[in-house]
Amino acid sequence: MGEAGDYRRHYRRSIEHPDEFWAEAARAVDWARQPSRILDASRAPFYRWYPDAELNTCVNALDRHVDGGRGDAVALIYDSPVTGTLRRYTYRRLRDEVARAAGAFAALGVGRGDRVVVYMPMIPEAVIAMLACARLGAIHSVVFGGFAPAELAARIDDARPTLVVSASCGIEPTRLVPYKPMLDEALRLAAHPPAACLIVQRERQPCELIAGRDHDWAEVVPGATPADPVIVAATDPLYILYTSGTTGRPKGIVRDNGGHAVAMTWSMANVFDVGPGETMFTASDIGWAVGHSYTVYGPLLAGATTVLYEGKPVGTPDAGAFWRVVTEHEVKVMFTAPTAIRAIKKEDAAGTLLAKHDVAASLRALYLAGERLDPATYEWATSMLGVPVVDNWWQTETGWPIAANPLGLERLPAKPGSPSVPMPGYDVRILEPDNPDGVAVPPRAEGVIAIRLPMPPGTLPTLWGDDDRYLSSYLSAFPGYYLTGDGGYLDDDGYLYVLGRIDDVINVAGHRLSTGEMEAVLAAHPAVAECAVVGVADSFKGQVPRGLVVVKSGVDVDPAALADELVARVRAEIGPVASFKRVDIVAALPKTRSGKILRRTMREIADGRSPAVPSTIEDASVLAALRPILAPASAAGGQAEAG
Ligand code: COA
Ligand code: AMP
Repeated sequence: MGEAGDYRRHYRRSIEHPDEFWAEAARAVDWARQPSRILDASRAPFYRWYPDAELNTCVNALDRHVDGGRGDAVALIYDSPVTGTLRRYTYRRLRDEVARAAGAFAALGVGRGDRVVVYMPMIPEAVIAMLACARLGAIHSVVFGGFAPAELAARIDDARPTLVVSASCGIEPTRLVPYKPMLDEALRLAAHPPAACLIVQRERQPCELIAGRDHDWAEVVPGATPADPVIVAATDPLYILYTSGTTGRPKGIVRDNGGHAVAMTWSMANVFDVGPGETMFTASDIGWAVGHSYTVYGPLLAGATTVLYEGKPVGTPDAGAFWRVVTEHEVKVMFTAPTAIRAIKKEDAAGTLLAKHDVAASLRALYLAGERLDPATYEWATSMLGVPVVDNWWQTETGWPIAANPLGLERLPAKPGSPSVPMPGYDVRILEPDNPDGVAVPPRAEGVIAIRLPMPPGTLPTLWGDDDRYLSSYLSAFPGYYLTGDGGYLDDDGYLYVLGRIDDVINVAGHRLSTGEMEAVLAAHPAVAECAVVGVADSFKGQVPRGLVVVKSGVDVDPAALADELVARVRAEIGPVASFKRVDIVAALPKTRSGKILRRTMREIADGRSPAVPSTIEDASVLAALRPILAPASAAGGQAEAG
């Protein structure tokens, strides 16, 4: 940990002299060709970091530590309460298994720049698959297991992979998730299915393999010829990670190799204060950005030990599970989503299960991100654990915290409700909404959270195959700035407060989802005339989606049966992760006189605010009728009830 004033000094330097700052940070990475240029602004607003450098990310994550004499240090601990498995991988073993997997991928036709879709549960082969892609200079695209086949198909069609790596099943506490049938269905739906699939057969539920297309991991990988690392340009993509936007089509966030390696390495030391020989436990699925950055790449690039946990915060077997992992593996830093802590608090408010484990022996901080950290959850975690609880705010797009309390640099005073201060490289501004001139509002005034370009290394250079969409979604609202999609304010001390999304993205149990996508599913039903999906406040999941549907005139349907059918459709087409459980059939949706549905007003009601009724509204009574439907979902802390 650093000394008082370190944060300010570093922050100022990163904004005033970004080239110098990020040149110095780059020294922590092993390059095949050192960067001689740091920032390429020649195609602004498209910026590239380390434009002439070369490296291999897998070498930095694995080989470098083995070659440096730390081959016997533990790289990854696979802790799986759902299967009763505990397995440790040293850096040497992980490097060797990754090299063989890379050899197998290469034999299946994967080369530099090719895409590989990874649709897997939290098993070591998933991490091995990601790193094997990195070794070959191929580009992985991990798809979260809670998505339905149609979502997987959309991602396959956008990325056009050479190979899909999957498993026969996932194991949820109450059911098995049949990955392989979902993959088969996705490949049936996809316009660009790959020629080959590589499948990990799990004992709990093996699957049928399709001859000629499907290959068994256990047959192909162990005997494969280990592949040497392929050196790539720092600006070559390492991965694509799809995330929800306002429209139905997910956005393929691109992460490059060089900027990512630098940002991960820098943040591990300075934000998280984790280094070689120390253990980090990030309980996020590898299908999300947090899992990519701080379960897989961050800890390994730093030479630390990472815990891959196949289980839940509660129910595997109880609400003491995280604390068991922390104690058993001597975890220094833990990272999860506020929802997970709320789930634990609900079952173990008094900390009886926590008291059975000596977390204080190793734990130094708990990091929480992915959704707003409500002060009650912050206070509970702080008082129970007795360590700093660090709210940090970021997005799939940025790949690492935009705002946090950088314990590795300096421990700043915490303010509940705020993810603290902007991290080096992020010039965060609060702008007047609807004013393209990019005018900053004064401290404490609410506005749109934007980041002055260029953003630091590790953040997205563009969207996969769609520069125009990158421009129109993020860069054109306020020229010279990146639009985060969140609203908020800065206080007089420069602490940031994030109030929530200003678009149609919602956050359900730390999972980012698009209401527009759910609306598209509802609108496709022949009985639906109009619909809206709104995220209503939920004291457990943060938000849950609610559907409002107007039935076509003249169509005779049973409202309850229609609601059930629509709920089932969203589950089938988007996935269980949407937690879409309630549809209300209503007489009308609130609209302006020009016919525009008042989504923002509905959103504000659902957030528990009392918006002024717009003067342009056609019929205020329609809005009044929706108020009880959009009321917070579960004041007592339970889940939204099925409708
Ligand atoms: N594969 C398949 N299905 C999955 C899945 C996966 N990897 N993850 C979740 N699902 C399913 C669940 O089984 C559930 O299905 P159900 O409707 O049949 O019960 C559904 O998706 C909703 O899951 P979830 O929102 O996770 O709710 P939950 O009640 O099962 O669990 C929590 C609640 C709090 C335990 C869980 O949401 C959680 O751990 N959240 C943290 C999220 C997180 O880490 N986000 C990353 C950003 S940091
Ligand atoms: P994702 O891309 O899935 O990480 O989701 C990013 C979005 O989650 C952000 O734009 C915010 O709306 C929300 N979010 C993430 N972390 C926080 C946080 N610490 N506080 C408030 N909102 C957050």
